[in-house]
Amino acid sequence: MTSILVTRAWPKEAEDRLQAEGLGDVTLRDPDTPMSHDEWMAAAQTYDVIMPTVSDKIPAGFYPAAKGKVRVMANYGVGFNHIDIDAARDNGIAVTNTPEVLTDCTADLAMGLMLAAARRIGEGERETRAGKWIGWRPTHMIGKKVSGATLGIIGFGRIGQAMARRAHYGFGMKVVFQDAWAVPDDIKAANGNATQLGSMQEVAANCDFLSLHCPGGADTYKMINASVFDAMRPGAILVNSARGDVVDEDALFAALDSGHLAAAGLDVYHNEPALDPRFLQYENLVLAPHLGSATDGTRAAMGHRAIDNLKAFLAGDAPQDLVT
Ligand code: DGY
Repeated sequence: MTSILVTRAWPKEAEDRLQAEGLGDVTLRDPDTPMSHDEWMAAAQTYDVIMPTVSDKIPAGFYPAAKGKVRVMANYGVGFNHIDIDAARDNGIAVTNTPEVLTDCTADLAMGLMLAAARRIGEGERETRAGKWIGWRPTHMIGKKVSGATLGIIGFGRIGQAMARRAHYGFGMKVVFQDAWAVPDDIKAANGNATQLGSMQEVAANCDFLSLHCPGGADTYKMINASVFDAMRPGAILVNSARGDVVDEDALFAALDSGHLAAAGLDVYHNEPALDPRFLQYENLVLAPHLGSATDGTRAAMGHRAIDNLKAFLAGDAPQDLVT
């Protein structure tokens, strides 16, 4: 019988369906904590299917050890930078992910971070809760106007496009973006009448808010570095709901220290959840704990999508979200 491991707790609806599908012997791992190195190495010899997720730290030795045993890693999540895709392929392990179902919620969260950072909502809440608010006054907690400003987007895939629509149609923002692929005119027109620029630096120089929507991993590692921060307009704001390793955090802190960067709204970090303690020193950072897809319907839909992919794979069909 096919043995299936789910590495972290899913919404009950999705777990129930996985068990009811009769795809194999399902292990819902308990406790809901990251698997240790030794657990991963044991899993390599034990399971035919592993259903991992973004917070898993998979040791390099897992892939060769899993060769001939693990057939597929049906990832719960769209991002798969926690999986070594080349090593999986080299060791005969298929990988799937769960795009589309979390696009709207992630773009919603990015809008929320942008608004919160621009309008100092976190600072304001802290002041109010601390009983330090002394009342309305014309100069109190002045932020940055979002409506009508220019949004720069790095990565114009599904989530970047959803962000562009929200910003343009909801807030009257002009949208500029950078992406490695030449985006066809009809897609630009349908997604906030956005303008593609040639480089990240060019986008940074031409926007008031810069929002990241590219994948993480080796290709984008520390891509938002000093040269991008330096190119930004003074007083610009950064939003990151993509992956922490896309941003050079030393360069981020330097831009905040100089005042060139007015604020940032962040959902993701290097080495999360072990944040660099410097993050906590800045009032002008809005810090969310990787909540992009965290709504009830979306988290269940991610499970359903992972199950759909696994069902197709086990039936010998091509899963709709085959990564490798
Ligand atoms: C993903 O699916 O990659 C997200 O980061 C989880 O919210």
